[in-house]
Amino acid sequence: MASCCSLSFSTVSSKPNKPYSSPISSSLQLPITSQLPFSKKNSLYSNHTLLQTQCRKTQSPDCPSFLVVGSAKKQEPLRVMISGAPASGKGTQCELIIKKYDLVHIAAGDLLRAEIAAGTENGRRAKEYMDKGQLVPNEIVVTIVKERLMRPDSQEKGWLLDGYPRSLSQAVALKEFQPDLFILLEVPEEILVERVVGRRLDPVTGRIYHLKYSPPETDEIAARLTQRFDDTEEKVKLRLHTHHQNVESVLSMYKDTIFQVDGSVSKEEVFAQIDGALAQFLEAKE
Ligand code: AP5
Repeated sequence: MASCCSLSFSTVSSKPNKPYSSPISSSLQLPITSQLPFSKKNSLYSNHTLLQTQCRKTQSPDCPSFLVVGSAKKQEPLRVMISGAPASGKGTQCELIIKKYDLVHIAAGDLLRAEIAAGTENGRRAKEYMDKGQLVPNEIVVTIVKERLMRPDSQEKGWLLDGYPRSLSQAVALKEFQPDLFILLEVPEEILVERVVGRRLDPVTGRIYHLKYSPPETDEIAARLTQRFDDTEEKVKLRLHTHHQNVESVLSMYKDTIFQVDGSVSKEEVFAQIDGALAQFLEAKE
């Protein structure tokens, strides 16, 4: 049967599905009528060569047409971690990264605030620590983050993990989730305080604003902006202290994948650095 078919990229034709053994090494052979989740950006199959096999006219009319996935290897979706001091711009960059790379954004702080808003026991306990600028205990954070990472959308599209891990024990607890790239945003402390105090959030769109650096586009948006309960100068200093206590030990776990970024420049310039690194990584991978 194999000898009746040649490989080509021409238009798909519908023929009855028949068993076919491809001359090329492949893990998947799918009828051409199958709907493959094939999009360059995120698909699990994005790095595969989809080859259509067609019969030559001179050969048997019974010869079937198939789409053949011509690579045995399934491309893993992108996995990225982003870290940095409070208000270093993690959330802001995540908005830009997911817009371009369509990853699932998993922010430990957002997950905890959702627990608080839902009035759960975990949320009540988490708030006690967040109020003091301290790390929420692992038995709460690790479970919540792991559960989100394990969901099908994160597994299929890839993930962008923001604000986790924040201690060596957290890194060890989820060591099976290794990033392709560990982005570290570096911003001097005096800038961080100003960013925290001026930060505002849009509860409708979830967008992050800053009264000076990234003001709301309309009066309507400005009127509905809210401030986070831990966004005061006093609390950010406590959060910074916690960050400095843990950052070195976390970095030691990701030595091979760290990409340090100057986070003190405009958000567009910060994104350009990150985008460049991600594009380079994907290119090398392909
Ligand atoms: P979390 O919510 O993660 O807060 P954080 O780490 O303190 O970081 P932020 O969200 O404050 O800042 P960001 O870096 O996202 O900056 P953003 O983009 O908003 O954590 C809160 C608390 O939850 C922790 O203190 C802890 O208690 C608990 N927690 C969270 N994760 C935990 C974990 N893994 N384990 C245990 N406990 C955990 O930007 C800030 C402002 O600056 C914005 O107004 C923005 O518009 C502006 N801005 C951003 N980039 C720029 C730029 N380039 N130029 C000018 N302005 C900019």
